[in-house]
Amino acid sequence: MSIFGRKEKATATVIYVSPAGDAREIAVPVGDSVMEGAIKHGVNGIVAECGGACMCATCHVYVDETFLNRLDPMEATEDEMLTCTVSPRRPNSRLSCQIRVTQELAGLIVRLPETQV
Ligand code: FES
Repeated sequence: MSIFGRKEKATATVIYVSPAGDAREIAVPVGDSVMEGAIKHGVNGIVAECGGACMCATCHVYVDETFLNRLDPMEATEDEMLTCTVSPRRPNSRLSCQIRVTQELAGLIVRLPETQV
């Protein structure tokens, strides 16, 4: 509860790591996507041209292997879009607009690719 009596939204920390290795820890509201957390906080390296509609692949991230089995399985559309990434697709590639932040994902580490476009 805030001092104004409003209920504060629960958040979970997501750690965005640049290709150079710089890490930014951001408290992302539960229910938002990992992409939205990046865009709202000006994280360089996430473009998100389609705004989260799973139609651009410019929100590509490499998910830290320790979190892979905590993510929901990818839908066919995401799998298809991951063939369109500019940086190479790897086994831990995901589209960050398709990852919903949950309490179980607190501490999630995503590495940003060299380029999105
Ligand atoms: S924002 Fe376009 S596919 Fe994720």
